Amino acid sequence: MTLGVNIDHVAVLREARRVNDPDILNALYVACANGADQITIHLREDRRHIQDIDVKDIIRHSTLPVNLECAIDKDILNIVSSLKPHRATLVPEKREEVTTEGGLDVFTYEDEIRYAIEQLHDSIIPVSLFVDPTIEAMDKSKELGAEMVELHTGSFANIFAMLNSSLSYSNHSIKELQLPRYELQSRLEKSLEDIEIAAKHAKKLGLEVAAGHGLNYHNVSHMMNIQEITELNIGQSIIARSVFSGLAEAVKEMKKLTTR
Ligand code: PXP
Repeated sequence: MTLGVNIDHVAVLREARRVNDPDILNALYVACANGADQITIHLREDRRHIQDIDVKDIIRHSTLPVNLECAIDKDILNIVSSLKPHRATLVPEKREEVTTEGGLDVFTYEDEIRYAIEQLHDSIIPVSLFVDPTIEAMDKSKELGAEMVELHTGSFANIFAMLNSSLSYSNHSIKELQLPRYELQSRLEKSLEDIEIAAKHAKKLGLEVAAGHGLNYHNVSHMMNIQEITELNIGQSIIARSVFSGLAEAVKEMKKLTTR
């Protein structure tokens, strides 16, 4: 399995202060030196984390392939075409969203996506489409000329989290959180089945298959059981865990420096 480590969140922290700390290139080196097979970054239209210069630097210094996520936006596509990452992953993007909330709508935006793929192919950049795990989306992705699909695992991850939470949701305003466990279990099985069916179908069509969004140390084993998935892109859970695997050392080191 190829592990794509998404280091956007290191830039989120840096942008909170607008200083070069933490340095995104350090994150790149640590990921490269510790088992990542690919670096994944998202150049958002609002530049809330990764900046254009980061993309340039990361592509220049990475010893691993760089998978650059981007929206089907004219300006962004021009930048991506000129920066030449190893692959571009087209994702939906809304300025108001916290993160990428669903797969790319390959039906409503088919002309824009086809054009984007052609533009990227002209720059010799292979293209993956971040899509919901449905047979129809696989067929359309193939028809539009993508080499790869990344299956959106957000729905699976959300149900997994609800099912494994020890919190009581019985009075929660979100209706789904009030569902009984047997219902959540059957939804979890259905979401996994959707991912597996879509992955098998995509592979049959000759598409490479990745998956990502919301994957973490608890739920990732489910993806490992689906043989057709050959790549996972994971960000939030890795960076979140690194805070706690590193915080003790960081406090100890500062305590030493501030002890007379
Ligand atoms: N794959 C794609 C296409 C994404 O947009 C994201 C989020 O930026 C990820 C994977 C990583 O998701 P997470 O941060 O939830 O692991």
